[in-house]
Amino acid sequence: MKKTRLNARMLISALLMAVLLISASSCNRKDTEPEPVPDTADAQEKGSKVIVVYFSYTGNTKTLAQYIAEETDADTYEIIAKDPYTEDDTRYDEDTRAYKEQSDPDCRPEIDGQLPDLSGYEIVFVGYPIWHGQAPKIVYTFLENVELAGKTVIPFCTSAESPVGNSAKNLEPLAPEANWQEGVRLEIDMTQDDISKWIISLYASK
Ligand SMILES: Cc1cc2nc3c(=O)[nH]c(=O)nc-3n(C[C@H](O)[C@H](O)[C@H](O)COP(=O)(O)O)c2cc1C
Repeated sequence: MKKTRLNARMLISALLMAVLLISASSCNRKDTEPEPVPDTADAQEKGSKVIVVYFSYTGNTKTLAQYIAEETDADTYEIIAKDPYTEDDTRYDEDTRAYKEQSDPDCRPEIDGQLPDLSGYEIVFVGYPIWHGQAPKIVYTFLENVELAGKTVIPFCTSAESPVGNSAKNLEPLAPEANWQEGVRLEIDMTQDDISKWIISLYASK
């Protein structure tokens, strides 16, 4: 497993070099960037170029996000709702907070805490569970409030059975200047080794 992980990191380094060359001229950052949150600031000092951002309610997406971070030597940022979701909010039912939020195109649930400064990253994985066929609206809040211009964004989702469908495509207009990759659905029982192979296939196809 160690050898596979090393290969994944080598492939990622190669992709990073390519991404750096392509995105250097198109990178367009905000004048007033927020102060970096401490863990991402530390990681940037270490020279990390990949970050795995995720929202997870029951932990499935979080587990896979952590595997991806491990494989890519990345930092992580968990999107946490300011108003935490309860069991009642998320029942698979039409009369719930989650359903109402998902049905409202303008809904943008508030994120708790500070958003990360993404200026030091070239590749941003964005993970989410499928909620009523789409990414949870709090992921929309995130994407609309960070600077992703020129960055490679790799969406991934988990679900009970729904495919990624148009859930990832529907995120693209929220950060139109990012270099969006095809969204993928990952099985919730994937192991660290499975994730390693997926990442190798991802970069090998570039
Ligand atoms: C509010 C809500 C809506 C959901 N909608 C869907 C859905 O439309 N299709 C599906 O296959 N799974 C659906 N699920 C199941 C989750 O996508 C699945 O369990 C996912 O792996 C959870 O990820 P998490 O543990 O990171 O929150 C839904 C779960 C919740 C809580």
